[in-house]
Amino acid sequence: MLLASLSLFALFARRAAAAASPFVAPPAELFSPLIAKKVLATAEAFPSPAMYPQYTDRAEGKWIWFGPDLWTTGFFPATLYAMHARTKLCHHSSVGDGDQWLALGRSWATPEIPLIHNNMYIEHDVGFVSQPFRDELKVNRDNQTAISAVNGFSDDLAARFSEIVGCTRSWDTADPTDFQVIIDNMMNLEIFFANEALTGNHTLRDMAISHADKTMANHVRPDGGSFHVVEYNSTTGVVIKRRTAQGYADNSTWSRGQAWGIYGFANMYKRTQKYDYIQTARRMADYFLDNLPDDGVVPWDFNAPLDPPRPADSSAAMIAANGLLLLAEQETSIFNPVGATRYTNAAIRLIRDNTRLAWAPTWQSLLSNGTVNNPQHNNLTGIIYGDYYFITAGNTLVERGLASC
Ligand SMILES: *[C@@H]1O[C@H](CO)[C@@H](O)[C@H](O)[C@H]1NC(C)=O
Ligand SMILES: *[C@@H]1O[C@H](CO)[C@@H](O)[C@H](O)[C@H]1NC(C)=O
Ligand SMILES: *[C@@H]1O[C@H](CO)[C@@H](O)[C@H](O)[C@H]1NC(C)=O
Ligand SMILES: *[C@@H]1O[C@H](CO)[C@@H](O)[C@H](O)[C@H]1NC(C)=O
Ligand SMILES: *[C@@H]1O[C@H](CO)[C@@H](O)[C@H](O)[C@H]1NC(C)=O
Ligand SMILES: *[C@@H]1O[C@H](CO)[C@@H](O)[C@H](O)[C@H]1NC(C)=O
Repeated sequence: MLLASLSLFALFARRAAAAASPFVAPPAELFSPLIAKKVLATAEAFPSPAMYPQYTDRAEGKWIWFGPDLWTTGFFPATLYAMHARTKLCHHSSVGDGDQWLALGRSWATPEIPLIHNNMYIEHDVGFVSQPFRDELKVNRDNQTAISAVNGFSDDLAARFSEIVGCTRSWDTADPTDFQVIIDNMMNLEIFFANEALTGNHTLRDMAISHADKTMANHVRPDGGSFHVVEYNSTTGVVIKRRTAQGYADNSTWSRGQAWGIYGFANMYKRTQKYDYIQTARRMADYFLDNLPDDGVVPWDFNAPLDPPRPADSSAAMIAANGLLLLAEQETSIFNPVGATRYTNAAIRLIRDNTRLAWAPTWQSLLSNGTVNNPQHNNLTGIIYGDYYFITAGNTLVERGLASC
């Protein structure tokens, strides 16, 4: 009798486990018809000469527009490619027309082509700016314009590599021996792997590995948090300063920088299978998750004081969510389902909690509560890269069968 009821219990337990998904449900806004509507309205406003939306005003959520020579201008064309990808995942009229998104993505990317040979302000951020061209190659791998763009932009970044420092230079400085590297730069390394895939030349891949190794050693702290800026001496290669530019203090952890780091190191693991990289991505992810407040809303800096209330950064939340999903994919690749489930659920919770705060139906942007640069008093706006990473996270969840649209 006891034995019979025990085995019955085991049977029920097994059935219950099979029925209940271990994954958290994503928020419905991730697939709202408002997404296609707003993105299309922005796309149709295509100004001449070309200007790109970067962030909104704080009161009404209207886009503020900038010329092409800026690190953020690839995000809107990349958003159009992400909508094109979404039409392949979601067979719904509310997602819009695939051919139209692709045509718009191509038109919006075109004014960026001259930047390959002529830019003042993009500096190291060619990885971000080249995103639409890398997207184009996923649609048409023979598009020669996109191939030359990826190779041209990657050569621009390679030209900023120093053998002595072992990194690509982020910001230019008046004193060329002051060699500044920001954690954000981890995101630009992917273009080196894209170049390798197109040319078979491994030199740029080696630069990516060197840059990541140095960043792992000098930007990431023992607690898993990160410095925003590390300054090296370009003639000796030694670290001369660790500081912040956009964070609260030199030794604080600026949340968006931390998010770039999670994504960047998960990607380095994906490209190289070097164990230190997945360990670093995990440590940075754990720091991010362990330092969230109870409501899950991402503050612009994890160490900023609570009084006056610290503004949120919904863009950091969406970047981190993408980084966590990329990390979860790497965990799956090494047969660690516990890690994969943990980081996937953390990503979905981040999206859920920050969408709850920041979903902005009456704004031109999808999300509000982004902080571009708090030391420059630019907080609580919509941000183009917050919206972009919101859409790509939704696409990834559909691809993995964790959401339906
Ligand atoms: C190739 O890609 C470029 C840049 O992304 C785009 O402007 C162009 O329209 C594309 N060409 C074709 C034939 O699709
Ligand atoms: C870097 O080191 C060189 C040689 O010691 C020195 O002349 C230069 O001032 C240093 N630069 C910085 C930014 O510290
Ligand atoms: C590979 O790329 C590097 C950096 O751009 C370049 O110096 C080198 O000549 C290239 N090698 C070949 C075989 O093309
Ligand atoms: C940063 O340094 C200050 C002053 O030394 C210290 O009070 C603070 O606790 C440090 N913060 C962190 C996050 O390490
Ligand atoms: C979110 O944004 C609204 C205004 O857009 C603001 O009143 C609120 O304080 C913000 N919340 C956080 C946590 O930043
Ligand atoms: C947000 O920005 C406003 C000005 O644009 C500034 O007055 C305020 O101090 C910032 N908020 C915080 C908590 O830093």
